Amino acid sequence: MEIKDSIAFVTGANRGIGKSYVKSLLDHGAKKVYAGMRDVGAFNAIASEWPEQHRGKVEPVAIDITKEDHIQSAVAKAGDVNLLINNAGIANFAGLIAADNLDDARQEMEVNYFGTLMVSRAFAPVLKKNGGGALVNILSVASLGNFPVLGSYSASKAALHSLTQGIRAELAAQGTQVFGVFPGPIETDMAKDFDMEKSSPDLIADGTLKGIERGEEDIFVDPMAVQFRKDYFADPKALEAQLSNFHPN
Ligand SMILES: NC(=O)c1ccc[n+]([C@@H]2O[C@H](COP(=O)([O-])OP(=O)(O)OC[C@H]3O[C@@H](n4cnc5c(N)ncnc54)[C@H](OP(=O)(O)O)[C@@H]3O)[C@@H](O)[C@H]2O)c1
Repeated sequence: MEIKDSIAFVTGANRGIGKSYVKSLLDHGAKKVYAGMRDVGAFNAIASEWPEQHRGKVEPVAIDITKEDHIQSAVAKAGDVNLLINNAGIANFAGLIAADNLDDARQEMEVNYFGTLMVSRAFAPVLKKNGGGALVNILSVASLGNFPVLGSYSASKAALHSLTQGIRAELAAQGTQVFGVFPGPIETDMAKDFDMEKSSPDLIADGTLKGIERGEEDIFVDPMAVQFRKDYFADPKALEAQLSNFHPN
């Protein structure tokens, strides 16, 4: 799919990788971008960072991806979308057994898995009506191997990887291409406590859009992600053992 002249919807567009997606879409020639965010009050400050010619092409849309009424009103506003980027996500840094209770794990599933599923279901008919287009889920290297310090987050991202495979098969008939992006550690609020080398969100956004244009279903952009993919396919059990000792700080 060509990004030029596409009409995109990005969730979690107010900061981090989502904010970079909006900018990168415009740089790649998107005709219009709907910037989904929980707090649209933040929009003007974000837009003031963009070049003048970009500003009129972005429309902020209030959306919490766990709320069905928000999603329905977003679909009603953005009926011309042909590229959906499911970026919004949370990480609670909880172990599966060590956590005091299941609140963090449930919240991660609610946002990362069920929220993304709800948005995908709502926009699938829109994509179909607009010629098929593309749906992109932001996964993680943790979708392929569990990081025990982020045990419940990893499980939610593994579930999202499986979801991505499932909807790829289901949406093929309507001509929608489905992509999964597997970033390693990225310089955003989410990874702020990770004391390790991180890649920029702009690199992920640009690499994702180039991957979509090349038609790569599984997109690995940053150097850690590229190495992770190699290690995963070479020996998944060795990688599992390596991750069991992973401490980010
Ligand atoms: N940073 C990394 O190292 C890394 C690595 C691999 C994958 N990822 C994935 O990349 C995506 C973006 O993460 P990031 O690093 O940019 O994180 P971030 O800086 O923490 O930003 C997360 C974004 O998601 C939004 N969000 C959270 N819950 C939401 C909800 N219920 N409804 C709508 N929006 C919601 C946040 O909105 P608010 O501002 O309203 O909270 C924010 O815009 C996530 O899916 C994350 O799992 C990140």
